[in-house]
This record gives sequence, structure tokens and C-alpha cells, in this order.
Amino acid sequence: LALQTLFEGPGLGAALPLPDELARLYGKLSFQSRRDGPLILGNFVSTLDGVVSLDAGKSGGGAISGENQQDLMVMGLLRAAADVVIEGAGTLRAAPKGILTAAHVFPRLEKAYAELRQRLGKAATPLNVIVSASGNLDLGLRIFQSGEVRALILTSPPGEQRLAAQGLPPSVEVRALRGAEGLGSAALVQSLGLSRGQVLLVEGGPHLMGSFIKDRQLHELFLTLAPQVAGRDEASRRPGFVSGQSFAPADPRWGDLIGVKRGQSHLFLRYDLMKT
Ligand SMILES: NC(=O)c1ccc[n+]([C@@H]2O[C@H](COP(=O)([O-])OP(=O)(O)OC[C@H]3O[C@@H](n4cnc5c(N)ncnc54)[C@H](OP(=O)(O)O)[C@@H]3O)[C@@H](O)[C@H]2O)c1
Repeated sequence: LALQTLFEGPGLGAALPLPDELARLYGKLSFQSRRDGPLILGNFVSTLDGVVSLDAGKSGGGAISGENQQDLMVMGLLRAAADVVIEGAGTLRAAPKGILTAAHVFPRLEKAYAELRQRLGKAATPLNVIVSASGNLDLGLRIFQSGEVRALILTSPPGEQRLAAQGLPPSVEVRALRGAEGLGSAALVQSLGLSRGQVLLVEGGPHLMGSFIKDRQLHELFLTLAPQVAGRDEASRRPGFVSGQSFAPADPRWGDLIGVKRGQSHLFLRYDLMKT
């Protein structure tokens, strides 16, 4: 399960106090400290040909990664280091039984993840945030009903009304964003009220990620490259990790490679998206 570190960029910041087991599996994990607020990280797994969902809205990351255990381990590690994990309603609809915790994605390391959160002085679980303009969410899902996590739904005023009509479970808060920016990613981040030193993890999907990258809100991307060629034909909707936005060539987004790890034929890439 241990990853091999092939490259680590300079100036990544202070190393996190990883418990021995996580340090053995991942190596060192450093986070930059930003002067202007929380550190905002993204995490995706993609095929070699840039597909992140075999049937957008239905298939999950497992079919992309080949149920790769190291990818799940890294996903868990990032969740364990996050104050808030945010995902779009489409991703929740594709994996409706999920909660956004480290232990849920990789139970084998539950104790080590919990120990890391304790060392970082963080709550037992990150705040789970779901973004939905429509408010068309099933409040009977585990993430809302079980009380295992605190959940926050960021939505529009009509979405708020639609959700209120269902009756809110006690562990769920709904917040409607009303400004001219609507649910633009800057407004989403601002509404979370995170401070310097805190970590926001964006798990997608492609529409939510697109809005973060468009607004230059995403500082870093952790991208797992799975050694699979998925292919696309005219009939299939197989998005990359951005949907609903187009950048190049008019307004391109370039990244700096700041980390490369390897687990057999999977690559674990880390890009700084704010340097250029
Ligand atoms: N390979 C990977 O690493 C990975 C990671 C994540 C997801 N996925 C896959 O991606 C697929 C889903 O793609 P998707 O693009 O539909 O995902 P998505 O971004 O999670 O969902 C889109 C929906 O989320 C809400 N939303 C997202 N951004 C918003 C914004 N800025 N403002 C308002 N609402 C926003 C809207 O919900 P409403 O319709 O309710 O308004 C929108 O229709 C699934 O198959 C999932 O498994 C893959």
C-alpha cells in the first residue's frame, strides 16, 4: 500500500504530524499556509484519457481508479486533514450512501486518521457541505439522517424553500446564498467562514470543480492518474474533471507540478494552480 515518492517540489510548507502508519504509507505531507484564508485543495481520480465519470451522474470513482486501494487511502488522508469537505449534488446523487469522512472511504485506517485529526486539533469529522442550486436533495440520505456528520447544504433561495418543505434533520443546516454572485465559488467559500490555516477539500464533481477553477479559488489539485484508457463515443457523457466551463485557449489555466508519487502503475500528482 505504501506510495513511492518520485518528486516533491520545494516550499510546500510545514509537514503535518502524521501518525507513523500514515507517514509510512504516504510519506511526508506538507501544506502551505496561506495569508489570505483557508487552503483550498481539490481531489480527483482520472483515466489516462481524462475521464472522471463513465456515465456522468451515475458511475463513481471506483470504476475510474479500478477500486485502487492507494487512491482511497489518499482520499482518506486528505479528508482527515480537512476542516470542511464540499461536493456537488450530482456527486451525492451518484453515491447516495456516502458520508464525507476519512473512515468511510478507507475504514482500515480509521484509527490513524482519527489520531491525525486529534493531533491537528480538529473535530472528529469534517463538516460535510453539499452544493445544490435546485435544493433537489433527498434528506433521507445517510449524510443527512444518521447524525454521523454535521451537514450543511448551500443552495439558492428557492432551493432553501424546497428543502424546508421536507423538514430538516437536526444535524443539517441549510444556507441560501442571496448575493449577485449566487452560488459562485467565491461566495461558497466566503459563506463557510473558514480562517487562515484551515483546509477546505473540494471533491467535485466536475461542475463544482469547474466553478472553483473558473474563479481561481482552487489552490492545489491532488490528481490520481489511473492507468486506464476509458474512451468516449458520441453516445457517452464522459466528462473530465471540469464541466460547464471552458478556459483554453482564451483564458487558460496552467499548473505547476509540485508532487509525484507512484503506486504500481497509478500516479499521484499534485499541482499548484495559483502560481501562474
Ligand atoms: N473521478 C472522480 O474523482 C470523481 C469525483 C467526483 C465526482 N465524480 C463523478 O462525477 C459525476 C457527477 O458529475 P457532476 O458534474 O454532475 O457533479 P457535481 O458538480 O457534483 O454536481 C452538479 C450539481 O451540483 C450542484 N452544483 C455544482 N456546482 C454548483 C454551483 N457552483 N452552484 C450551484 N449548484 C452547483 C448542482 O445541483 P442541482 O442540480 O441540485 O442544482 C449541479 O447540477 C458522478 O458520476 C461522480 O461519480 C468523479
